[in-house]
Amino acid sequence: MFEALKPLPQDPILQLMQTFREDPRPDKVDLGIGVYKDDAGNTPIMAAVHEAERRLLDGETTKSYVGPAGSAGFNSAMAELILGSDSPLIRDRRMSVVQAPGGCGALRMAAEFLRRCKPDTTVWVSTPTWANHLPLLGGAGLTIREYPYLNPKTLQVEFAAMLETLEGAEAGDVVLLHGCCHNPSGADLSLAQWQEVTTLIQRKGLLPFVDMAYQGLGEGLETDAAGLRHLAGEVPEMLIAASCSKNFGLYRERTGALALVSATATITSAANSQLLSIIRSHYSMPPAHGAAIVETVLGDDRLRARWQGELTAMCERILHLRHAFAEALAPVGDFDFIARQRGMFSFLRISPEQVGRLRKEHGIYMLDSSRVNMAGLNDRVLPGVAAAIGDVLR
Ligand code: LMR
Repeated sequence: MFEALKPLPQDPILQLMQTFREDPRPDKVDLGIGVYKDDAGNTPIMAAVHEAERRLLDGETTKSYVGPAGSAGFNSAMAELILGSDSPLIRDRRMSVVQAPGGCGALRMAAEFLRRCKPDTTVWVSTPTWANHLPLLGGAGLTIREYPYLNPKTLQVEFAAMLETLEGAEAGDVVLLHGCCHNPSGADLSLAQWQEVTTLIQRKGLLPFVDMAYQGLGEGLETDAAGLRHLAGEVPEMLIAASCSKNFGLYRERTGALALVSATATITSAANSQLLSIIRSHYSMPPAHGAAIVETVLGDDRLRARWQGELTAMCERILHLRHAFAEALAPVGDFDFIARQRGMFSFLRISPEQVGRLRKEHGIYMLDSSRVNMAGLNDRVLPGVAAAIGDVLR
């Protein structure tokens, strides 16, 4: 049976990660996969995470099963992180949260849940969006449609075109929004734009689904969640996929959460029971370790303050690099948009051939689309990267 299968190419982001690892050049620069790096180019374990792991190692008494929802302590800590501790949705039990194996696990379980609600569900995604959104959602059988988001010339949000297209969506359609730090463009909606989208979603009876993969890495934990919180306060139903990969640096621990909001506590409870049965039939229950770390960090005032301090430093470093990069590129073109955008990613608006030359001739790695991970830069490599970009643009 297997002999009929054709070999498939690897996912482009993961392929690039592997090619970079295999490149023997000592001065190579990785601006590819979205992982945070420090000034030395390392992706360190956050100190608060390390401390939490130490405590867990000493204090853990069992490895027995947790259950499909994962840890209740993690789930309520995540609810507060996403919505704020004073959220009426939490108080009124209109929101339920389940632990998930990373943001991807949350996205896929949401897709399976949507299919159970309505097998012919359509999900509208931004053009462009994170490439893995398509197989994660489409693979569950949902129909994917696209709304214009980024103007490829100005690299700004095409807001009027986005609204116009979403006017064509039908009641019950799902709209996938990036909570902050839009991947791959770094172009986010302003709060006023979130408010306008919210009005459209309500008027048309659409279901908002927010992917919150970078909370804390745009402008800060609260500011980054402002649009999502506004939306959540207005709509009767909503889904949120959250990831702890970036803001806790827990990439390989696969730690995330899926939140479900409905009009009443009774509906939420029934919907959550459906979600739990879907989880049970996919992976039974999520891995425990990463969520236990997050729960430990968020549940301890001192550790939480330490984590927040580290996250703020990461966020400020990315903002600094954005400004420094835009400035270093000023002699070769208009790259001011880099300083205005938020989160890890921006496009450089250069061709795949130029991206290929940067890789081959200069050992600088970015996606073929020219998406750059800002956190892969540092003050040491930045002048050389800017000069190499100038070189391929000449
Ligand atoms: C990225 O966009 O580079 C990250 O979200 C990592 C991934 O899994 O693609």
